Amino acid sequence: MRLDRFLTVDDFKRVAERRVPRMFFQYADSGAYTEGTYRANSDDFAAIHLQQRVGRHITTRNLATTMLGQPVTMPLGLAPTGAAGMQSAEGEMKAARAADRFGVPFTLSTVSICSLEDVAAVSKRPIWFQLYVRRDREFTGRLIDRARVAGCAALVVTMDCQHYGQRHKDVRNGLKVPLKFTPRFVAEMAIKPRWALSMLRTRHRTFGNFAGHVPGAATAAALAAWMSEQDDLTLNWQDLLWIKKRFGGPLVVKGILHPDDAREAIAHGADAIIVSNHGGRQLDGALSTIRALPRIVDAVGGQCEIYLDSGVRSGHDMLKAVALGARAVFIGRPFLYALGAAGEPGVTRLFEILRAEADSALGLMGETDVNTLGAHSVEMGG
Ligand code: GLV
Repeated sequence: MRLDRFLTVDDFKRVAERRVPRMFFQYADSGAYTEGTYRANSDDFAAIHLQQRVGRHITTRNLATTMLGQPVTMPLGLAPTGAAGMQSAEGEMKAARAADRFGVPFTLSTVSICSLEDVAAVSKRPIWFQLYVRRDREFTGRLIDRARVAGCAALVVTMDCQHYGQRHKDVRNGLKVPLKFTPRFVAEMAIKPRWALSMLRTRHRTFGNFAGHVPGAATAAALAAWMSEQDDLTLNWQDLLWIKKRFGGPLVVKGILHPDDAREAIAHGADAIIVSNHGGRQLDGALSTIRALPRIVDAVGGQCEIYLDSGVRSGHDMLKAVALGARAVFIGRPFLYALGAAGEPGVTRLFEILRAEADSALGLMGETDVNTLGAHSVEMGG
């Protein structure tokens, strides 16, 4: 499919579904339990209306801003997503390169396929690194050191994932680490040859931040056994203090959905927070992020930058979140679909679509600068 035929996130999603093995496509396209929060995240954007204002000079428009002091061409970053390198071979490196060229931050997940060193090496703009605190604090400390040495611009600590919310699709698909080559999976390779061939051609097929970094776990099975015991249910606010000290750079706290937790994060050193419910993949029944945002903005009172993820599917959504007080948004699934559908050029095309949508909407709102959006730019409605 020609790139200019992709016009929406759903266009990428449809093609990704055809190209990517069902197990990995559905890993991205899934929420916890009933998927109610997953759906609410985007549905609730639709309940917010952009103010249409006319009679204004809108020839020159600006979407550029800064995130943690770094210039960005629009208020958006790529969210950390597990196993992006299974949507497309070397997916993390492809997405990081696309983000670098476009001028927005890329956040690498702890559970990525390509390692943080490999991804940092392909991006001139320092990448951000997302940290899952593991029960093995020695390992966790070394991972933080590696992020620092690789020059990561921010450490994004995920707080809403001490253990995983169940995603029924993953259970039904038998998604497990290490991957079991079930007859169904092998049969799928025959109808998804492009994916299968590209995976055969790369050496990046395992969890790059773990493989070779866990003493005593030399085989895939040993590593999987170690990884399966690493959820840290003790993770608490105090931990942010040593994490921040060890990293020595900006700390971003991800998974905030309550105003009091925003205050805690700031009190424990957060330089920015991400209002997130993990794309509806964790606590099913939790509030959508766009509905949670205004109260958190009030609680933070300008003390740090606030980002939002979960549910953003268009440039219009990006403007809605910014108008309600987010400095920027992060997208996860949209870029995974773009990767799965069309690799690195797909991610670039997605950025172009989002930028064009936001630029058009800004003008039709009678606005010329994304930095001056605010409560006056939106109206809440049903
Ligand atoms: C990992 O963070 C996931 O949501 O699957």
